[in-house]
Order: sequence, then C-alpha cells, then structure tokens
Amino acid sequence: MNAISTSAASNSAASPIALEVARRRTFAIISHPDAGKTTLTEKLLLFGGAIQLAGHVRAKRDRRSTRSDWMAIERERGISVATSVMTFEFEGHVFNLLDTPGHEDFSEDTYRTLTAVDAAVMVIDAAKGIESRTRKLLEVCRLRDIPIITFINKMDRESRDPFEILDEIEKTLALDTTPMTWPVGRGRDFVGTVDVATGGVRLLDGDEGKTGPLRKMSPAEIAALNVTLDAGALDDELTLVREGCNSFDLDSFLEGHLTPVYFGSALRNFGVGDLLEGLGRFAPPPRAQDADKRRVEAEEGRMTAFVFKIQANMDPNHRDRMAFARLCSGKLTRGMKAKLVRTGKPMSLATPQFFFAQDRQLAEEAYAGDVVGIPNHGNLRIGDTLTEGEEINFVGVPSFAPEILRRVKLSDAMKAKKLRQALQEMAEEGVVQVFRPTDGSPALVGVVGPLQLDVLKNRLDAEYGLDVGFDTSEFQLARWVSCEDGKKLEEFAAANRLSTADDLDGDLVFLSPSAFMIGYTGDRWPGIVFTDVKDVK
Ligand code: G4P
Repeated sequence: MNAISTSAASNSAASPIALEVARRRTFAIISHPDAGKTTLTEKLLLFGGAIQLAGHVRAKRDRRSTRSDWMAIERERGISVATSVMTFEFEGHVFNLLDTPGHEDFSEDTYRTLTAVDAAVMVIDAAKGIESRTRKLLEVCRLRDIPIITFINKMDRESRDPFEILDEIEKTLALDTTPMTWPVGRGRDFVGTVDVATGGVRLLDGDEGKTGPLRKMSPAEIAALNVTLDAGALDDELTLVREGCNSFDLDSFLEGHLTPVYFGSALRNFGVGDLLEGLGRFAPPPRAQDADKRRVEAEEGRMTAFVFKIQANMDPNHRDRMAFARLCSGKLTRGMKAKLVRTGKPMSLATPQFFFAQDRQLAEEAYAGDVVGIPNHGNLRIGDTLTEGEEINFVGVPSFAPEILRRVKLSDAMKAKKLRQALQEMAEEGVVQVFRPTDGSPALVGVVGPLQLDVLKNRLDAEYGLDVGFDTSEFQLARWVSCEDGKKLEEFAAANRLSTADDLDGDLVFLSPSAFMIGYTGDRWPGIVFTDVKDVK
C-alpha cells in the first residue's frame, strides 16, 4: 500500500486521484495535558498559513465556548470537549490535523479519532518525560500500528537530559528512537538544534512563523554562542548521538516500531518547521482501510468514507449535527449522491465542509485521507459507512465498555418518550452509551468518565428541555455478549432477562454488579463470549 502511494507521486502515469492521495498526511497529536499540544497546533497552523497569528486556536475555542451551555462546561473547567479537524497546506502536502479532547473523561472520543489518522505526533514535556495519558494513547496507536513522530517540547525551560528521555521512550514504550535533531544547550541556555544527518545548526533566532536557516558551524563556533557550552563536550555528545543512537529506518517507523525525535519549543516556535517537514517526508499517505468484506485501497476510483465523530451545536443558529467523515478511497465531489450502507438509502452530499483554523469552507472536492464535515439532521451516526453503492462496512471504530453505569431519573414522568428520543440521539452522537434493559426498566447510560454525565445533563436540559438526574444502579459493568451458536445466545438472553439490555444497535449486553459475576456467569455458560470492546458496525 505504501509502495503504491509513494510511487504515485513520482509516476507521471499515476491517476489524478493517486497523485492527490500521495500528498495527503492525516494525523493527530497525542500528549498528556499541559505538554503543549494546543501551542504546537497553533504553530503548525501558522506554518501552514492557516492562521495569521498564533493564539487563534485558543481564542477560537474560547469564543465558541461562550455560545452554548454545553460549551460552558468546557469554559468553566478549562478543558476541550470537542474534537475537530484542521486542514492546511505546507510545501506541497495537504495536512489534516485531527484534534482530540485533552481530558481523559472523553477518551472514547479520542480513541475513535485515532481510527481516522495515519500517523500521530507524540508531544513530550522535556522536563516531565512520558506521562500517564501519553502512555495510554500510545497503546491505542500501537493497536493499529500507527507510526509515531516525537516532539520533545519546552526545551527552552529546564529539562531532563535528552539521552535520558530517549531511554525512557525506549524502555517504557518499547519504541526505538532516532534523534533527527539534537538540542544545543539546556533550559535558558538552549541556543538551537543540530540537524543530525547534515550537521547543520539551526539557531533560536527565527522570527515567529519562520524557521532560521541551517548554518554550517564548527563545534567551536557553536560553543562560542553561550558561555555554558564547551566545544569538546559538544563534539563528544554529537559523536555519541551519531554512533550510539539508532539510524533512521523508514520501514521500522512505518510499522510503528521506531520514532524519529525532534527537539524544540512550541512556545518559541522552534523546531516546529523541522517537525512539519519530517511529517511530510516520512509520515505515510492515506493507508488502506479494512472493511467487512475487503480491504479498501486509498487510490481506488470510487469514494468510500466512514463517520468517526458527530458534533452538535457547531452552529448555534442551526440545530444540525455535523458528522465528521474520513474519506478512505476515491474522490468526493460536492453534490454527489452517496449510499448510507446501514440504511441502504441514498444521501446527497450537498454541503460537505473543510475546516480551517478560523473558518470552514464548502468542500468542492476531497480525496482519500481528507476529513469532511457533513451537516445532517440525525441520519448519520458514528461508525456509518458511505459508498458510491458498494455494500461494505468499515470496521474498527470501537465502542468501549463504560466504566460508570447510571439510571436516568426524569423529574417529569410525562416526558419519558421525549427522553427516549433524546437519549437515542445522544448515543448516536457518541456522547454516552445507552442500554435499554430487556425487562423494560428505565434506560441506563454508560460513560467512561463522569464529565460525560455533566455534558449529557446539560445538553438534555438546553436542547430538549429535560431535567434529569442520575441514580446509581445495581449494575457496575456492561459486556457485549456473543456466541457462535445463535440458539444458545437466545437461551442465554431468555435466562438472564433481568440482567441484559440492548445497546444502540440492538446488540445484546450483559449487565453485571461485579467482575466476579461476569466470570461466574461465563463459567455457567460455556461458549458465550463477553467482550469489553465492540467495533461499531
Ligand atoms: P496542552 O494543550 O497540551 O494542554 O498544552 P498547552 O499548549 O496549553 O500548553 C500548556 C502550557 O505550557 C501553557 O502555559 C503554554 O504556554 C506552555 N508551553 C507550551 N509549549 C511551551 C514551550 O515550548 N516552552 C514553554 N516554556 N512553555 C510552553 P500556561 O501558562 O499554562 O498557559 P498560557 O497562559 O501560556 O496560555
């Protein structure tokens, strides 16, 4: 797949679609909160010319957050709830940067977003090294063999020894490292980086939004830049980097075993250009995606896409929902008819949209790797596949068993029907999961983190006029249930009517007060499989 895409760029006989696909890079940034993801995003967009002044990502987030009660939660707590996408061009490449919520309570959203990228940038705070959330997100990337590029940030502040950080990455993440740049000086005495391959030096004097040139400098000349530097020690360190560190191996990177490492300071806009150049050079173009019946190659002529995110309230004047779809193959043309495979119904893609830092634009055409927003009134849900007619469903957009289960308590019992509808819509958007008990008792909602419940309560109130509370339930855990023998599954469901429910798709879920009970039930029902992750169909 990569061979096809890479050669497409240099092959004059390649189809126009293949040429467009070859220049796409679709990625996300993974990091622990505070490592500098927002700052780096701003600087990347600045490089791409998508924004004139850094500060807009944050400014925009704040502005938008004043618009609705839902966003007020975000404002109050200083967290980013929404996932969005930003498209920009740099040196011939089209970059699609998929933003992910920083707060772990919304990690389900983040995991789903990671199914739509081909590479990830891991941002590490140079003083703190690998932190818990980075480790967790990296595990998710590894499940899909997503190649990782590392940016060691905040080199302008007191930091740990660079060798020590590389060692930590290798040991705790089991990921080989290749430094592509190497920092000269530390903390306040950080003067720039050396490009390991060429020996060129980039000094920390570039203007905002530009990168200073690579200069030819001897160790003595570099050492003369700061009294704390020593030419001999510098020379020894660079020799150790060249001889002691892994050399870069593209295949190993593409397989997710090795990460190229860049050092810099997002705040000072230093090293960001090198990182972006590395992304363009090494990150893979859109990869083939697995569907239930076959693998779909990005260069195929016919359009296919899947929905990984639904976002409501993007435009407070219209109560529409925006479905974010990742194109997996072919070309989307505005106005084209697509088939929504789940329902078999056609839908007209009249107003697909691209998102930039400050605004959005109608997408006249988009190619595999691109992410478009499709405004709709509830007919698209997470995991949906769109095609030009083919009966295939992309697999791999996961649902995770919730960590918290609550019964929804309605203050006005007359509004039960409205609540049912509202919960259905919230579940389709991925705000929460909804389980409808087989015995007809009130619905349970499942979440990964408690902030999701706050968002649900706020939105039910603001958008549906429903005042709800949450009761603890006798059940703590939910597991999807399957069995190769359909009859046996029916028997299981019949025998466990008081502790089963249907999820959004009508799939059977076992509700349990404890992990012990799941094990016990499993022993009594050999052949019945309990899982805590489900691929949304
Ligand atoms: P996040 O999205 O990963 O949570 O991190 P964010 O970019 O918001 O950065 C967290 C804090 O770290 C911010 O400071 C930011 O200015 C600072 N920061 C980011 N990159 C660098 C860097 O390269 N060097 C230094 N020295 N600081 C950096 P803050 O005081 O929390 O926020 P603010 O008041 O500056 O917005």
